[in-house]
This record gives sequence, structure tokens and C-alpha cells, in this order.
Amino acid sequence: MSQLAFLPGPLIGRERELSLLREFLQQVAVSGGTLVLSGEPGVGKTALINTLADALSASGTMVLRAAGSQFEQEISFAGLNQVLLPLLDSLGELGDVHRDALRVALGFGSGTVPDQLLVSNAVLALLRRAAARVPVVLIVDDLPWIDRASAGVLSFAARRLVGSRAALLVTLRVGAQSYFDRAGLPEYDLKPLADEASAQLVSSRFPDLDPWVMTRVLSTAQGNPLALLELPEALSHAQRSAMETLPAVLPLGQRLHDLFSSRIAQLPPQTRMLLLMAALEGTGDVSALEAAGGDEYRLGDLAPAERDHLVRADASSRLIVFRHPLVRSAAVEAATLGERRQAHRVLAGVLADQPERMAWHLGEACSGPDERVASLLEDAALRIVARGDAPGAVARLTRAAELSPAAEGRGRRLALAAYIGADVIGEMRSTAQLLEAMRQAGPQASDPMHYAPAAAFVMLNADAHISTIHQLLVGAIEGGNHGYDTTDAELVNAMWGLAMVCWLGARAELWEPFLAMMQRLTPQPPAVLALQMDTYIHPVRTGVAALPRLDAALRAAQRETDPHVIENVATCATYADRIGDLREPLWRMVQRGRAGGPARKQLTALANLCFDDFVRGDWGEAAELAAEGLKVAEERAGRFFGWYFRYVQALLASVQGRFDTSRALAHQVIGWAGPRGVGLAQVWAHYALELADLGAGDFEGAYRHATAMSPAGALAPYAPHCLWAVMDLVEAAIRTHRQDEAERHVHAMQEAGIEALSPRLAILVAGSVALVADDDQAPMLFEEALSLPTVDQWPFDVARVRLAYGERLRRTRATIESRVPLDMALTTFQKLGAVPWATRAELELRATGQARTSSSTTGVAALTPQELQIARLAASGMTNRQIAERLFLSPRTVSGHLYQIFPKLGITKRAALRDALDAIDGS
Ligand SMILES: Nc1ncnc2c1ncn2[C@@H]1O[C@H](COP(=O)(O)OP(=O)(O)OP(=O)(O)O)[C@@H](O)[C@H]1O
Ligand SMILES: [Mg+2]
Repeated sequence: MSQLAFLPGPLIGRERELSLLREFLQQVAVSGGTLVLSGEPGVGKTALINTLADALSASGTMVLRAAGSQFEQEISFAGLNQVLLPLLDSLGELGDVHRDALRVALGFGSGTVPDQLLVSNAVLALLRRAAARVPVVLIVDDLPWIDRASAGVLSFAARRLVGSRAALLVTLRVGAQSYFDRAGLPEYDLKPLADEASAQLVSSRFPDLDPWVMTRVLSTAQGNPLALLELPEALSHAQRSAMETLPAVLPLGQRLHDLFSSRIAQLPPQTRMLLLMAALEGTGDVSALEAAGGDEYRLGDLAPAERDHLVRADASSRLIVFRHPLVRSAAVEAATLGERRQAHRVLAGVLADQPERMAWHLGEACSGPDERVASLLEDAALRIVARGDAPGAVARLTRAAELSPAAEGRGRRLALAAYIGADVIGEMRSTAQLLEAMRQAGPQASDPMHYAPAAAFVMLNADAHISTIHQLLVGAIEGGNHGYDTTDAELVNAMWGLAMVCWLGARAELWEPFLAMMQRLTPQPPAVLALQMDTYIHPVRTGVAALPRLDAALRAAQRETDPHVIENVATCATYADRIGDLREPLWRMVQRGRAGGPARKQLTALANLCFDDFVRGDWGEAAELAAEGLKVAEERAGRFFGWYFRYVQALLASVQGRFDTSRALAHQVIGWAGPRGVGLAQVWAHYALELADLGAGDFEGAYRHATAMSPAGALAPYAPHCLWAVMDLVEAAIRTHRQDEAERHVHAMQEAGIEALSPRLAILVAGSVALVADDDQAPMLFEEALSLPTVDQWPFDVARVRLAYGERLRRTRATIESRVPLDMALTTFQKLGAVPWATRAELELRATGQARTSSSTTGVAALTPQELQIARLAASGMTNRQIAERLFLSPRTVSGHLYQIFPKLGITKRAALRDALDAIDGS
């Protein structure tokens, strides 16, 4: 349809096209010429020329416009009339013959309809005259709908404008037939929008669109602006915010419907049915379609659709390919509900060897309750959630619930959908809705065992107290009819939920009923849950013995696709400092989340990556990911888990010397956690506070916070985070003259054998041993600590040991010797940006009589290993995006690093990287 309407919003993502066209027009406005702008329907031809026309008018060009219209197509010279309207006053300047011919042609005079050649010449003369005064650009949109007579005149003029300062710009849809003769004229094919611009367009108009829905829209629209704008419009509010699942094939809006469905409606019935089956089948598998068509529909029946460029049969891959995903939608929309059910039924019949797909089609074919189909769908959902497709599982379970004849089945399936929605996707509004649907399904549907696991998540986000949620889960499990059999998925979900609640509460009495239940589980507790108890809840007591199982789990997790498993194994790896082994699978979870995938899994993956970044000294990335995590928590994954990232931010602020920020954040976490009973968050916040005080030299404060996590001389149960603070506690105790407490704490570490739990803990324990030793023993013990394997992996901890070593040496008058560890510590602290610690090392070094002259804040020595890697990749010509993909980072992180790298190398632009690195390599 013709569109002269002005753009409702600014043009997005067409900078290149605009400047190309503007350049072309500027040039032809000097010497004349014609351009044909073609593109698929809705790709933005009209929008582009509207913007262009505005710019041209503003720059003093005379813009003459017309748009073809279906309704005026039969009226001779209607198009010409529109274009020439602003020039009517100048008709008098033409010679009599031309003037009269034009007046008659345009309907302002009477007489016999003039010959087309005469009109054409008259138009040319008029344009040339106008162009002699000011550059003239004729813009004709939707050329094929221009009446035949005008098209003939324009074809004539198009070839004769050269040398005249008049230009002609016409648009048409690709493949459209028209009376305008395009032969030999330059043509510009307007392509769909790039991915980034597409996303920008959608979010500019639909800021609240759920990211998951966004992904669907983007993949269906394929950069077509009309589709990008119309597809979300055609969704209900609940669908747009992902509270309601989306149909397998997205519905079209009115304009898209007009564009596509009308073409499908014109096809013969057999073709339409086959097209429908191809659309619903989804993979384009020719064999499946052949089987589905049977004797009734042959593949040859698709020929009319092929001729109309709606589908294409790819002989080599044996696939039926829709020319555009919108055609798929249109094929479905053009069918009646009965036809759709029929097509699904037929497809289910030929997909018997693919139970998951068969179940889906059966589900769509059903018109009423059917327990067999419901249970097939439920099975399929459980399999596909294990492959990481949580939204797919929720959709199937919801459909299964709809098809369940009995209230009990309906309740159970809704509950499972709610649990997956809450646990994996983190979408609390839809979870709450599903739970409400269950409640309405009647008392049989709302067995506490059904709803408790999902309700736990909803309650966490609704600020319920941990004890209340704990009671709900314990009550549900104890009253459940499951015989503690771990093949019962609901029981297992409830146990995971309870473990999480106990962990968050961090109190022994919460764990008691849980541990009793673990004993009763038969044939045995789920392996990862048991491992988590040993390595994460009781790492001090049982962690070391569980290491071989952790190793095996880490190996298996490399190939794992179920985000639930990856997340839980990462948790198990925390106190063994092995999260690093899972960076790849964790990044995959983050990337899926960024692409609109499960938000809660993205959130836990981000948290784990942050923890790993922190201990490995990649604080820049930790900060980036923490900011992202907070945003995900706030916007998509339920606000409750935002505290993970406030904790990380507090931690970073502590070690970087931003003490006010650190304390504010930590107290915010503590204040938030108190009324909710989230004891764990308080323990973690004390760790951040303890590090801030230590950095600030307030050893009394540091001691207080460290012992709030766990008293001196003990490694508190249910607060394993105290492991991270063992050396801090010892240092704070010694500095506050609590030698006895320091020694008792070292004794507790040694007795528990925590050095075997992780190589990092081994260094912290050895460092603590050296700290409490007397002056004779200390140097040897520090050397021992610093010669442990993996000292290069934990820069902050190791630099702390070096600093303590240097301080001790200087105090015992081994001034010269002290310079080596102090200098090394200083270098590391500077690289890390551990400002207060660098200051402490620098002061100490100065006290040895050596002021550091060559600061390592510049030159290659100042680059962290990751920065060096990024610098090299960037120097090799890779873009930020390519580097990000290679290193599993976000492009933003990469650019952040480069921002740090340039000043360190003394350069200001990317092009100088290679020389800077060459110079370093050469020297
Ligand atoms: N780059 C863009 N930025 C913002 N909105 C755009 C952009 N391109 C197109 N649109 C919007 O998308 C819709 C379709 O674009 P438009 O009507 O220009 O397409 P068209 O190619 O002229 O289609 P047709 O072939 O039907 O004439 C319009 O609402 C338009 O405002
Ligand atoms: Mg248009």
C-alpha cells in the first residue's frame, strides 16, 4: 500500500544507505540521472525516501513526489499529475504545443488526449526548465502502482535527465511487474536491517518486550522493519511480557497479514494444505512432508507456491525452505483451526519415531482433554528441559495441563511448569500466575508437594522470611506421598529447593530436617545434591574426601547441556577454587541468557564467573559481570538474587580501596538480609567488610568482622565462606596482639586439613603458618608458602603473602632481602588496582631505603596476562566482537580492557597497538 505518511520515529540503522543515496542524489542533482530503489515488502523503502526527501528539501532541492496507488492505477496520468503539481504554475513557460498537451494530459484542459511522446517531451521540457533554477528530484514511491500512461512518460524521462540537474528516484518491491521500463537503469537493492539495528528498532518501540520474546521476533522478522514492528503488536500484553507462552508460529499483524496471507489465499487448496503442513512441520524435511501428504497431497502440488516465490525446494539438502519466516506465519494464519488440527494430526502420524515432536503435534491436534497425549507431552517436557530448553518445557507442560482430564494431573503439570519457570527462567510473574491457575483448578490440584517448590521462589521474591519458606517446604515433603523415592521429580525439586533455603538461612536448625530427609532418600540421594552437601555445605569436614567425585563431576559437566547441572557443579567447585574449570559452560549459559534465554541461569552463571574472576584477579571483568548480574536480577530474574552482585561489588570496592562504597553496599546487604532471615548474605557481607578494614589498616575492625563469620580457633559449620578469610583473621589477630587466637586459628586449619581442599587454600594456610611463626622460622615458612604450585594463579592472595614476608624481613633487619618480595607484591597490587595494598607495599619498600623509580603502571609489565592477550588479538586485526567470542567475554569487556591497555602502552589508538607490542617483543 502506498505510504506517504511521515515516519513516526527516527530512522534506525540506515546510516550507510542514507549517505550512499544522498551522495548519489547530490551528484545527479548536478548532472541528472535516475535510480531504482528495490526491496522486499516492508523493508523500509518508503521510510528511507521520506527521510531522504526531508533532507533534500532542507538543503534547497526541489522535491517532487508521488506514490503509486492501487485505486488510481486505472486513471491515466494520475501519477504525473501528483508529481508535477508544484510545477503547474510554470506551465506557461512552455511552448504552446507542450503546454496544451500537458494541460490536457493532466486534466486541466479539454481536447483530444495527446500522444504519449508529446506528453513525454513536454514533461522533460518542464523539468529541465525547473532544474535550471534549482536542483529537482522526482521521487516516485511504489512505482508498479503508477498508472500505465505516467509510467510510460517516466520511463522516457528517466533516460533523458542526464545533464539537467534533475534526478528521478523510484521504488518498487523486488519482483514486482510494472509498466516502467527499468532496463539499463542503475538499481539499488535495499537489504533488511542488520541484527543490532533490528533489536534497537524493536526495543525503541516496545521497551518492555521480554528478551525471550524479542529473540523470537527478531528471528521471525529477519531484519524486516515492518515485521519487527508488527509482530510484537500482534501479541497480547501477556505474551509480550512472556507471562503467556508464545505460539510455535508467531501471528502476523494486519499489514503483514494483508501482504502475505492474500498471496496464500490465492493458491489452490492442495498447495495451501501442503504449505500449512510444511509450516507446522517446521524443519522442512521433504521426506516427512511426502509421508504426510500420502496419496492425497503430492509434493508437486507445492509448485504454485514455488512459482510465487513463497517457498523453495532445495534439492541437495532435500529441504523445503520458506522464502521468509513470515510466509510460514502466513501459511498458518490462512488456515482454519480445523485445518490446523488436521495437519498436526497427520504430522503426528508420520513422526512416530520422534516422540518429542510427535507429542507436540498430538497436543496441538487435540480438541479436548486426553490423558495419553498429556502424559506424552509431560515426558517430552522433562527431556527437553534437561537439554536446556526451559521455555519449550514450560510450553509443553502448560499444554499438558490443559489436556489433563483429572485435576490432580492438571495441578502437577502446572506446578512443574511453575517450578521450571521460577528456577530456570526466573520469571516470577508467570510462576505466580501458574500457581494461581493451580489453585483455581481445585483442592486436588493444589497438593502442597506440587506447588511448594515453585512457591518457594515466588515467596523469596515476595520478601517472605526464610523460616516461613522452610516450613512450607518441610511440611510439603514430610506430608508427601512419595516414599522418599528419588525417581519422583517433584520430591527431587523440593529437596533442591529446601537445600537452597537452608543454605540461604545459614543456620544449623534449618539443616536438621533436611539432613534427616537425605538419610531417607532411596535408592540414594541425587549425586550432585550429595556432592554439594560435601563440598559446599560442609567443605571443611567432607570436602577433601569428596574431591575425586568433584573431579569426575567437573569432567562430565564440560559436555553437559542441562544448565541446572552446570550451575550446581559450579557451586560444588566454589571452595575447591575450581569454578575456573567450568568457565566455558558457564559462559554458554550467560550468552544464552543475553540472547533472551533463561535469566535465572544467566544470573547464577554470572555470579559464579564473578567469584572466579575475583580470586583470579580479573577484577575488571568481575565488575562488568556484577553490573550485568544486578541488571538481570532487577529486570528479569526476580530481584531476590541481586544481593550476590551487591556483595561482589562490595568486595571489589574493599580491595580497591573504595571503602565508603564497600561499607555502604555491605551494610545494605546486611540490612536487607536481616528481616528476611538470609543469614548467608550477612556472612558474605562481613567478608567484604573485613577486607575493607584490613585494607584501611583497621585491624581491630577486620578482626571483629572476620570472627563474625567464624570465631578464632574454629571453622564454623554452615558458614564455609570463613575459609576465604582464614589468613585475614590470622593477620588481624596478630596485628591486634592476639597471638593466641591467631595460633588457634592456624591450628584449626591444620587440623581440618583444608590445605588439601584447594591449592589457593594451601597457600593461605601456609601463609598463616608463616605469619604466626617466630622470626627464625618465618622466612623458611614464607618461602615454602610461595613455592607452592599455582602461586601464579591467585595474584592477590600471593601478593598478600609476599607483603607479609617482606614486612617480616624488614622488621628483622634483613632489609636488602625484604626488597625482593616487597617489590613483587607492589607490582602485583599495582596491576590489580589494589590501591591500599599497593600503598602499603610502597611505604614498606621506601622504608627499606629503596624508592621505586620505574613504576610499572606503564609498559608491557603493567598489562595483566588477559590484557596482553587482548592486546595481541587486537593488534592482529581482530574486532572487539571477534576477540570477545574467542575469549568468552562480552565485547564491552573487551573494549573496557582496551581502554585500560592504551594508556599503559602509551598509545591512543588501536592502529598503534602492533608497533607498541613489536617494540616490546623486540626489546
Ligand atoms: N530504518 C527504519 N527505522 C525505523 N522504522 C522503520 C525503518 N524502516 C522502516 N521502518 C518502519 O517500518 C514500517 C515499514 O516500512 P516501509 O513502509 O518504509 O516499508 P516499504 O519497504 O516501503 O514497504 P512496502 O513495500 O509495503 O511499501 C514503517 O512503519 C516504517 O516506518
Ligand atoms: Mg512503501
